[in-house]
Amino acid sequence: MALLQALRRLGQVAPVATLQDWPGLIEAYRRWLPVSAATPVITLREGATPLIPAPVISERVGRGVKVFLKYDGLNPTGSFKDRGMTMAISKAKEAGSEAVICASTGNTSAAAAAYARRGGMRAFVLIPDGYVAQGKLAQALLYGAEVLAVKGNFDRALAIVREVADTYPVTLVNSLNPYRLQGQKTAAFEVVDALGDAPDWLCIPVGNAGNISAYWMGFNEYREAGHSRTLPRMMGFQAAGAAPLVLGHTVEQPDTIATAIRIGNPVNRENALKAKAESNGDFMAVTDAEIIDAYKFLGSGEGVFCEPASAASVAGLLKRRDEVPAGATVVCVLTGNGLKDPTTAIEHNDSHFHTGIDPDLATVARVMGF
Ligand code: F0G
Repeated sequence: MALLQALRRLGQVAPVATLQDWPGLIEAYRRWLPVSAATPVITLREGATPLIPAPVISERVGRGVKVFLKYDGLNPTGSFKDRGMTMAISKAKEAGSEAVICASTGNTSAAAAAYARRGGMRAFVLIPDGYVAQGKLAQALLYGAEVLAVKGNFDRALAIVREVADTYPVTLVNSLNPYRLQGQKTAAFEVVDALGDAPDWLCIPVGNAGNISAYWMGFNEYREAGHSRTLPRMMGFQAAGAAPLVLGHTVEQPDTIATAIRIGNPVNRENALKAKAESNGDFMAVTDAEIIDAYKFLGSGEGVFCEPASAASVAGLLKRRDEVPAGATVVCVLTGNGLKDPTTAIEHNDSHFHTGIDPDLATVARVMGF
């Protein structure tokens, strides 16, 4: 860094931003967020995730459509939840809270644990027993959360957590906490900052419906401030076995391979319906088979490893590709990193995995086809 700075002073190196210059999203977008000088900023330098061009998916959609992937799996704990959690935990700390609690399908628990511990607070997380991807459970444990695996689904766990937070001195950090959505709206700012305007479509997986609500808030705030001319159509995709917003009613027994969005009763339902109506958007279900196809295609076609729930955005785009206007710009949000769920990757891929290979040149060359 010192060398780089010296070269810059001498005019030898262009003053491009380096990742080390990025202060985290609260500092970067401070004037858009409900923080003050009194807020202790608890950050792991989240945000500033790449908007990756997706030439192979663009080709599949055709007609000159340009597809980009907002790869939020590159946040510090590997999902978009870090955006909301830096805000929720900073505000909890400001209010003097000593403990936080959340229900989670995995990613929220990982982010809550990391940020709470960094802020010197206790983190209690309730997860549906047996339905959380291995990497996420590993994270919550390693970050030092107190993990309660409950014999019920996410919706049940969230109902309990709400009661706990109403009764005991612990701060709720699920997306019912308004600071979560405030932090998450910065992803929309980053998309507009990168493209120079809003995309025509935003394709996004929907579970508890906080993220789609946060993006819509962000796009609107940026447009009102003159940072973009347009607003995107908000296209929300749910797993077919957990699609309450598509069906128009709560799903009692949600079921999908995309465990992150295995949710039957989304708490941000009203905000999501508003985003859909105001943006002329739509909600649609994608099957587990379509999710897995998109998941594999993202990996082997684009070199991008996301978790299954994230691939719902691309599965949805491919399903609706004939409706995308020619030449349009589309952003698919990839909410979580593929490394969160190694089990699904190992069980669902089209690669050749040769095992038990004798350790000699002749065997290796023969298996390679030479
Ligand atoms: N993608 C991933 C990877 C998620 O973890 C989630 C939600 C979503 C999409 C859906 O976002 O709920 O704002 O509509 N995960 C929550 C959790 C429920 O507990 O980690 P949403």
